[in-house]
Amino acid sequence: MHLPVGYQNVREYFRDAMRFLSDYKWVYRYPMTGLLVHNVLGQIPPEWQIFLEHMSPTELTMLSNGYVQAHWPASLVLFLNKCKCLQLVDKIHTDEWKLSRELCRGLSPKKQHEVSRMISLVHQECQKLGIHNILDVGSGLGYLDLALHVEFGYKVLGLERNNTYTITASQKASSLCANCEAVSFYPCEVSHTTFEEIVHVMEKRLSRGHYPCTSRIQEENISDRLSKFHEVCMIGLHTCGDLSAVAVDLFMHTPQLRLMVLVPCCYHKLATLEEKDRCGPNVVNFPLSEELTNVLKEEFDGFEEYLGASFLRLASQESCRRWQHWTEEQHQQHSENLMSRAVLDLAAVKLGLVLKKKRRRCVRKTQRNNFESFIEDAMERYDFLLPNGVIATTEKHEEILKEMRTLWLQFKKFCNLAEAVTGLQAAMQTSVESVILIDRITALQEKQSQLTLDVVKVTDEELSPRCRALIVRK
Ligand SMILES: C[S@@+](CC[C@H](N)C(=O)[O-])C[C@H]1O[C@@H](n2cnc3c(N)ncnc32)[C@H](O)[C@@H]1O
Repeated sequence: MHLPVGYQNVREYFRDAMRFLSDYKWVYRYPMTGLLVHNVLGQIPPEWQIFLEHMSPTELTMLSNGYVQAHWPASLVLFLNKCKCLQLVDKIHTDEWKLSRELCRGLSPKKQHEVSRMISLVHQECQKLGIHNILDVGSGLGYLDLALHVEFGYKVLGLERNNTYTITASQKASSLCANCEAVSFYPCEVSHTTFEEIVHVMEKRLSRGHYPCTSRIQEENISDRLSKFHEVCMIGLHTCGDLSAVAVDLFMHTPQLRLMVLVPCCYHKLATLEEKDRCGPNVVNFPLSEELTNVLKEEFDGFEEYLGASFLRLASQESCRRWQHWTEEQHQQHSENLMSRAVLDLAAVKLGLVLKKKRRRCVRKTQRNNFESFIEDAMERYDFLLPNGVIATTEKHEEILKEMRTLWLQFKKFCNLAEAVTGLQAAMQTSVESVILIDRITALQEKQSQLTLDVVKVTDEELSPRCRALIVRK
């Protein structure tokens, strides 16, 4: 178990992490659009406020990365040090496999980076155990699978619930290696009810006996590969929401799956429990470990307040690594956008209106460079609903505009502070994600204590923010 330094056991870690989350829930509990409605700025400790308001962009970048300077307020330094203390200590995988030109076609630089790092990691891990077969859960368009086959000769089965993706992936496979049965895609929802079906398809497809299409394995002992069809590595790149948790259960349930390399993402998409079914946290797959469940039940009343949707949303956010390249002007623009959006929410609440988006992206980015163009855009892109659900008339719009302008005058001086809150969230992000990953690792160890586990940073966080792979060997 890779507990951060200084923790003797996982219970001690969870206890400390929960205390921290409870103490600083005001930082992340509300979406930034609710900054004013929920008076987040008023909850910033006074000694932090003075400092945060006047921070330089360099200091803001330092803060969001959890670094401190001696002259910063002691309680802020304490907070930032705690953010660091709770973070998983990553092993880092920086090896990349140079993908052939045909595999790169149509792939964004981000995807190329993810695929080249991930296949190199999977290959290294498979080699250690002599595994030649791959099961990919949530295979999407199959980039990873094609690369593992074309570059290293793996037999691969991709499972994907979106049939359009499996069709596209299969077409791509045929165009890269015609008549090859070694890579296939199967449309299927990975869920507890489909485990038997998956094992059946896996045995059938991965035992198919030929490797005609990749020159890289010609000199190798093919009969050795074939005799090992029943040893499989399960992989998943960006297994979103509940897929990671279900995949872990599939791994534990299936003896053929010997190795797992999983990069989870989108924790905020975990399914929530109906009110009536709740007897603990309101999320189905968090926490997963008995250890964290018990710590919460025994010691933390009201934990739902800080372990709900906002906690999962923060775990899924980007860290502020890309801020390092922002100019002062970019920060200013970002903070004005934040504050404008918060003003819009507050105006609606004050006038007893409910905001409803008309289109998906509500405020055009190009127009967001000053408050007047922001509100012009907002009036076009939102409906304002009266308490009876009826859309407010254009006469009411005048009142809304007036309220927004008044609030802007009152709050625009706090733009820097709003930006600093985003920085504080960024500083917490990795520790929040660490809590979720440590919970998952703990749950696995509770099920089978002799597993070996690693958490490895597999992609560059700046390019691909969900970057931690959970490696588990049975
Ligand atoms: C974020 S995408 C990643 C796709 C691919 N692994 C990649 O990195 O390019 C997640 C994929 O998982 C699929 N997915 C999510 N839940 C699933 C489930 N329970 N069973 C099968 N596929 C699932 C989605 O349809 C989506 O294509």
